[in-house]
Amino acid sequence: MNKHVMNEAIGETRLDRGTQGVIGQGVDRYEGKLKVSGKAPYAYEHLIGEKVAYGFVVPGPIGRARVKSIDTAKARAMPGVLAVVTGDAIMHSSAQPMGPDVPAMKGEIFHYNQPVALVVAETFETARHASHLVEVDYEPLEGHYEMEGRRETGRASDGGPMAADTKRGDFEKAFAASEVQFDRTYTTPSYHAAAMEPHASVAKWDGDQLTVWSSCQLLDLNVKQIANGVGVDASKVRLLSPYIGGGFGSKLGIGPDAVLAALGAREVGRPVKLALTRQNVFQATSRRGETIQRVRIGATKDGRITCFAHETDTPNAEGEGFFEPSGISTVFLYPGDDRLVTHRVVTTDVLTTSAVRAPGEATGMLATESALDELAEQFGIDPIAFRKLNEPEKDPQEDVPFSSRRLLECIDEGARRFGWADRPSKPATRREGEWLVGYGMASASRANSLMASSAEIEMSADGRATVKTSMTDIGTGTYTILQQIAAEMLGLPLDRVDVLLGDTSLPASSGSGGSWGANSAGSSVFVAAEAIVEEFARRLDVDASTLTLKDGHAIAGNRQIPFSEILKRETLTVTGKIEPGDTSDNTNQASYGAHFAEVAVNVTTGETRVRRLLTVGTAGRILNMKTATSQCYGGQIWGIGYALEEELVVDPRSGLIVNHDLAEYHVPVHADVPKLDVVLLEDRDPYASPLAGKGIGELAIAGVGAAINNAVYNATGIRVYDYPITMDKLL
Ligand code: MOS
Repeated sequence: MNKHVMNEAIGETRLDRGTQGVIGQGVDRYEGKLKVSGKAPYAYEHLIGEKVAYGFVVPGPIGRARVKSIDTAKARAMPGVLAVVTGDAIMHSSAQPMGPDVPAMKGEIFHYNQPVALVVAETFETARHASHLVEVDYEPLEGHYEMEGRRETGRASDGGPMAADTKRGDFEKAFAASEVQFDRTYTTPSYHAAAMEPHASVAKWDGDQLTVWSSCQLLDLNVKQIANGVGVDASKVRLLSPYIGGGFGSKLGIGPDAVLAALGAREVGRPVKLALTRQNVFQATSRRGETIQRVRIGATKDGRITCFAHETDTPNAEGEGFFEPSGISTVFLYPGDDRLVTHRVVTTDVLTTSAVRAPGEATGMLATESALDELAEQFGIDPIAFRKLNEPEKDPQEDVPFSSRRLLECIDEGARRFGWADRPSKPATRREGEWLVGYGMASASRANSLMASSAEIEMSADGRATVKTSMTDIGTGTYTILQQIAAEMLGLPLDRVDVLLGDTSLPASSGSGGSWGANSAGSSVFVAAEAIVEEFARRLDVDASTLTLKDGHAIAGNRQIPFSEILKRETLTVTGKIEPGDTSDNTNQASYGAHFAEVAVNVTTGETRVRRLLTVGTAGRILNMKTATSQCYGGQIWGIGYALEEELVVDPRSGLIVNHDLAEYHVPVHADVPKLDVVLLEDRDPYASPLAGKGIGELAIAGVGAAINNAVYNATGIRVYDYPITMDKLL
């Protein structure tokens, strides 16, 4: 436990006293220009001009089978083909999106399109063509491709981001005795992360040293996964992901491309490039599992919730521990003395399910926030008044305080800005021509976590600082945010701070995931910068708290000393490290918000148009108002997708993912997205991190689809329990 950080955090810190005024400002992402002008190399764009070979995956032709033999002769005979690689290591390559260990698969196909062979050729086109010449002989095995009919086989897994079950009191007894009983089941379909940049890798061997450029979120985990998959020690592998075109959880673990490129490169003795096609990405990386969620709420006659249960069934592949943790917010968001949150994993022979943006809240709050709306209506209470009546004062599961929770403020501010008072008080009563108009709202919450992370700051005598960490920037603005933190702490203009990311040869970081990235990696930069300040103070023989750094000078009393004089031509290098628990214990930490939606539903076609979306959020200190707001816009757009469009369809007869590209898997396009409004309240959470910030990335997706669903009800009088809300469900 680092008391120093905690004490500094609870009081004012150097970030509050900064002389640059850049922390929190909506500074443009400096890597953004590099990306849109083609100057930021994505994974596949490394080793341009070198003599490389190209890999192409041969996908398994069936959902469940034992491979008897693979005939590669025709493919190998094709001019330009350098090798066709087969074997368990190839078939394992997509086996484990989350953990570092690879299960033994013994030549079996566990999901449709699982890689079975790898073709390496002089050109991409040759490799692709030759992939069709590889013949796989297999013995079909019985496969199960949907949860239906198998839900009783669900298991409580310990491999998710939360306990499979949390309980308090005796829910069943309390529910049976409740004056009012609410019991509804909601379903959400499977979803895909659908990041713009496909999973892609370039691998190069120098003797027994392997270098891989890949598109990954958590480099220090991913390098171990690659080493395991290839069968070498992790110390022999260097992984680089300097620029990433989106991840959304699909790159928390490696895709098959990383291991395949490395195995291919070893086989042919030259670097290999391998980009998954869009269809590979859909069928051989990971997806979000569909859910069946039963929500039961017991209440008193006057609308006070007394007990709450949220039980989720969700699938995963054989041997996989992850589950979509739909009840993750339910544990602390809603009141009730008697509580039950469960998750059961049903094994299916379909692509592994794993984390997709806001794992848990994104699906769970589609259910619970729709339930609250319906229950409020049963009591004849406005949904906002109902939430106020049922706002817990402390974490109802653990009886610990919330580090900060300003949910009701977000709701009130949102209601005022949105004009909630104009909401049609009766459903299906506001009509404009052929459109029925309605308003809906929902809460947002996203559990906060701080992860271990370290960063080095190199301070050169000429007054430049270089931040070095294996952290990634998946399009979220990490480069710029870390630059802002270092600049503010060290009293340097932004352009005198360089940030190096995305390389496992740099100090190990939290990586990007779970909305913890900016806060965790940023805290390590904060701690490193504090150490520089302390070293300056020691050299100047003053107390660090009296030292101000500004424009490359240290100011102590009436002395103003240039950094170059303090450093005496040396470069000062320090490392900062943050660990979970460094700043808090015994509080429940989450970010909160409220969503407001206006929709119009066409009375003839059943088409729903979202007309307005407003999100008001609170997440501690906002490090960069522009990147934080943009993350929330992203969440709102995902919410439109989850409410109205997105649905990954698995053929229950074969296990084939049918809509396996962006033509068939519908995501919101510009025409589907109205003007979006996001308001982030000024806030500090001193228990969350030395930065007093909390996760923001995944906050806005949580609940937004339910706000749309509630608006659809208000417009039409039709409640939909199975997402997405397609036209057929409203006619
Ligand atoms: Mo996020 S689903 O934790 O990358």
